Amino acid sequence: MSGRLADRTALITGAGSGIGAASARLFAAEGANVIACDIDGNACRETAAAIASAGGSAIAHPFDVCDEDAWRDAFAAGAARFGRVDVLMNCAGLFDGEALEDATVAAFERVVAVNLKGVFLGCREAIRHMKSRPANLPWASLINVSSTAGFVGTARSGIYTMTKGGVRLFSKAVAVEAAEFGYPVRCNSLHPGGTETGMFDDILAARGLTREQHREAARTRNPLGRMAQPDEIANGALFLASDESAFMTGSELALDGGYAAR
Ligand SMILES: NC(=O)c1ccc[n+]([C@@H]2O[C@H](COP(=O)([O-])OP(=O)(O)OC[C@H]3O[C@@H](n4cnc5c(N)ncnc54)[C@H](O)[C@@H]3O)[C@@H](O)[C@H]2O)c1
Repeated sequence: MSGRLADRTALITGAGSGIGAASARLFAAEGANVIACDIDGNACRETAAAIASAGGSAIAHPFDVCDEDAWRDAFAAGAARFGRVDVLMNCAGLFDGEALEDATVAAFERVVAVNLKGVFLGCREAIRHMKSRPANLPWASLINVSSTAGFVGTARSGIYTMTKGGVRLFSKAVAVEAAEFGYPVRCNSLHPGGTETGMFDDILAARGLTREQHREAARTRNPLGRMAQPDEIANGALFLASDESAFMTGSELALDGGYAAR
């Protein structure tokens, strides 16, 4: 452990899989206490157990990010176990892969509930919890996971793109409001490009592609010519969580192989 997050406690949603699980493991390896949260209780318990067996500090706290009361309980559980919560990473997310003409209201409501309402509830609860933290502590950090879909549009992802653009601008509003209100809280959005996770499998299923076909398409999709691994995205989340990004708020960190650069 090298301690870039020593004495910090991080609550991470979507910590049962993919980018959230990789971030939970990395944050713990850097000294953080981790509250690993996911709607899938077994998955977040596995993440917490993996952290514990590597010598780190973690608890699992399963909940649905769309549940207002559950957010209050999650922060209360984190504070009861570790004293306070310093970092929130809103990573839970859903993808939809329909062409607009085929998209249903049910899909819209499902994706908006997790990707937007979940991020709103998380940031609101974090501000309530973090706004009066002691002045001798480093500023708290909120990390909202958006996507390259927060920058540019693509076919068959209209609802997802709408939510990820919303996450990007909501993060700026949270950052500016917190600073203007004198709260010691930073907020930034993180923008992964295509990353090989469970969501990647959802995208494949939606597009009727095999993994190899998708990887082949990825070779031309971004300048670096490949998809990301979850650990590569977790490195960006670690930067946003730590004081290395202390002068960064209301901004975007793209880890997209150069996708949005052209
Ligand atoms: N994989 C990619 O290519 C990619 C690209 C850009 C952005 N992202 C974003 O990264 C984030 C993480 O995605 P991932 O690729 O690791 O996907 P993933 O499917 O591997 O992990 C998402 C996790 O969120 C959890 N989750 C879903 N609904 C939930 C809810 N209501 N409450 C709590 N947890 C819930 C799932 O159980 C799952 O463990 C998402 O916000 C996603 O939009 C992913």
